[in-house]
Amino acid sequence: MTATTDFEIHPASGPLPAAQRAAVLEDPGFGQTFTDHMVTMRWSAERGWHDGRLEPYGSFTLEPATSVFHYGQAMFEGMKAYRQHDGSITLFRPEENAARFNASARRMAMPELPPEVFVESLELLVSQDRGWVPEGAGRSLYLRPFMIATDPALGFTHPSRTFLFCVVASPATAYFGGGPPTSLTVWLSTSFTRAVRGGTGFAKTGGNYAGAFAAGLEATAHGCDQVVWLDAMEHSWVEEMGGMNLFFVFAREGARPRLMTPALTGTLLPGITRDSLLRLAPRLGYDAVEGQISIDEWREECAAGTLTEVFACGTAAVIAPVGAVRSERECWTVGDGRPGPITLRLREELLGIQHGSAPDPDGWVR
Ligand code: COI
Repeated sequence: MTATTDFEIHPASGPLPAAQRAAVLEDPGFGQTFTDHMVTMRWSAERGWHDGRLEPYGSFTLEPATSVFHYGQAMFEGMKAYRQHDGSITLFRPEENAARFNASARRMAMPELPPEVFVESLELLVSQDRGWVPEGAGRSLYLRPFMIATDPALGFTHPSRTFLFCVVASPATAYFGGGPPTSLTVWLSTSFTRAVRGGTGFAKTGGNYAGAFAAGLEATAHGCDQVVWLDAMEHSWVEEMGGMNLFFVFAREGARPRLMTPALTGTLLPGITRDSLLRLAPRLGYDAVEGQISIDEWREECAAGTLTEVFACGTAAVIAPVGAVRSERECWTVGDGRPGPITLRLREELLGIQHGSAPDPDGWVR
């Protein structure tokens, strides 16, 4: 399929009545309610991409032998459509999601999708379901493009030869709630590993997330909100938080604050929010670099008062402050445990760009 894809349009005969939709948009939560439509498209080795459709949101019928149920050949993206103050609707850097989608596809031996078709499918769905895009900073329509292997066969000699691409949409507040951000307590996972070099850590594939649930339960059992993943070899270098990247803020008197986020080694997700903050921070007067930090450095720099803030970032999470750290052996506080000023400043600026109230010099908003 090309940029001039002819998606067949099949509008829903019974969309959710406006009053019920308005009730959902009052407090949408995250990923619980889905809009009236979805986009689907098929791929086969013989035909390439074909059968693009906009159709009512609904179930798929798949044989029990379908490849994705057994071998997990699947991947997804996460992005948002934002309501602007003038009522119009924008996407944020969708070409970056298209590029990451294709990077995941290559790693998972799945077909790439022309970036313009990827973006067109999002625009089609958002345009059809525009009444579902909530108003207000921190609220958005979360878009979940994904692809699954659909061969009804159990052979493991080759990847699937047929695939289904689909985009669904769900009105959302930020992952950790819509109000002013509160600090997370995070769990350092030393008994589980998320990713190794050469593995699938950088890809948005379901297995990375499925493998994280056990550590998530461990975190919850210790009163924590999220897991911090460490490197696989030494369990001492900080990587990411599964659904989010991490930033560390170092502030010394008389010096420009410095933000550091773990460098991309192939084991962590190349977050688009992460990349945006690396570019945005210098405009706000902060240095921003990729680097590495061990858990010992994290603890010691907090104790010395030189590591003043830590925050998580991601499409769903936006920017979420980290206030406390726990592991089997220790626990400590970041700063005074409350959201720090640099975290809040970056969050305000990012949301401002996304919702059209702050300048967008890099042309991120489409
Ligand atoms: C996103 O931020 O879009 C993600 O995919 C994270 C997910 C765990 C909600």
